[in-house]
Amino acid sequence: MVYQIDLSGGTIVVTGGNRGIGLAISEAVANAGANVAIIYHSNPQAEEAAANVAKKYNVKTKAYKCDVGDISLVEKTISQIEKDLGTPITGLAANAGVSVVKPATELTTDDFHKVFNANVLGAFNSAQAVAKHWIQKQQKGSIVVTSSMSSEIYNQKGLNEPLTQIFYNASKGAATNMVKGLAAEWAPHGIRVNALEPGFCNTEQTSGMDPKIRDWQAKSVPLGRFSEPREQGEPCVLLFSDKASYITGSQLRPDGGFTAY
Ligand SMILES: NC(=O)c1ccc[n+]([C@@H]2O[C@H](COP(=O)([O-])OP(=O)(O)OC[C@H]3O[C@@H](n4cnc5c(N)ncnc54)[C@H](OP(=O)(O)O)[C@@H]3O)[C@@H](O)[C@H]2O)c1
Repeated sequence: MVYQIDLSGGTIVVTGGNRGIGLAISEAVANAGANVAIIYHSNPQAEEAAANVAKKYNVKTKAYKCDVGDISLVEKTISQIEKDLGTPITGLAANAGVSVVKPATELTTDDFHKVFNANVLGAFNSAQAVAKHWIQKQQKGSIVVTSSMSSEIYNQKGLNEPLTQIFYNASKGAATNMVKGLAAEWAPHGIRVNALEPGFCNTEQTSGMDPKIRDWQAKSVPLGRFSEPREQGEPCVLLFSDKASYITGSQLRPDGGFTAY
């Protein structure tokens, strides 16, 4: 029989699911049959993005405006999703994230809060709200936190030239470590938690960069290029499926081999 992954009958919640890597996750899980709840911050095109996914893959989707750093909003949103989409939440992609690129001497407390609000507190809030929902219903589930290969390394814009995003890299180190702790705490409830650790990817987060930096970074990857969002989204389908039933507390790193060196 042909190898298949079928996520139909469930809903996957994707924070930051309206664009970039998050949109690719939304599309990949929709392509596997799941309904998709897209959580976004403020982008006026988010509802259109959700409608496009529904139409393209013949599933139900809905966009929810919600700052993932605000726990009461996150809990309210999660409690609404099953009523709207009609299928149980079976997975969460805690993917929303932001970066501030500045030399360390210029970073401020506001920059810290901006980055950690989305990348650490936001990922935690989304995971906690969904896990509480599952534990109360005695239901198992799978959580994928979009961390980054930056959890482990410091990015360069040229040989020995730091990209200067201290808070971002620190937040991703925190996100990956948090994944291990949550996986351990929630394993008895049948909840698996893993980190997706993308390498360079063609999204709005990277499109504004100086082309010289992008070229240098692409050449430094063994596969010789940035990834496309699809190449980050599709591996998540495996983590949401029962084919990954023994994978928890792990890091899946589609980085084109970058961290092999
Ligand atoms: N691009 C890369 O090369 C790369 C590499 C490694 C890891 N990553 C990680 O992958 C994830 C997605 O990155 P991306 O490049 O696809 O980013 P992106 O295109 O800049 O999109 C960011 C997404 O996060 C949402 N978001 C940001 N803050 C939020 C908040 N407080 N509450 C709710 N939603 C919020 C945005 O919503 P709005 O559209 O409403 O603003 C948007 O959907 C991030 O965690 C990022 O750190 C990216």
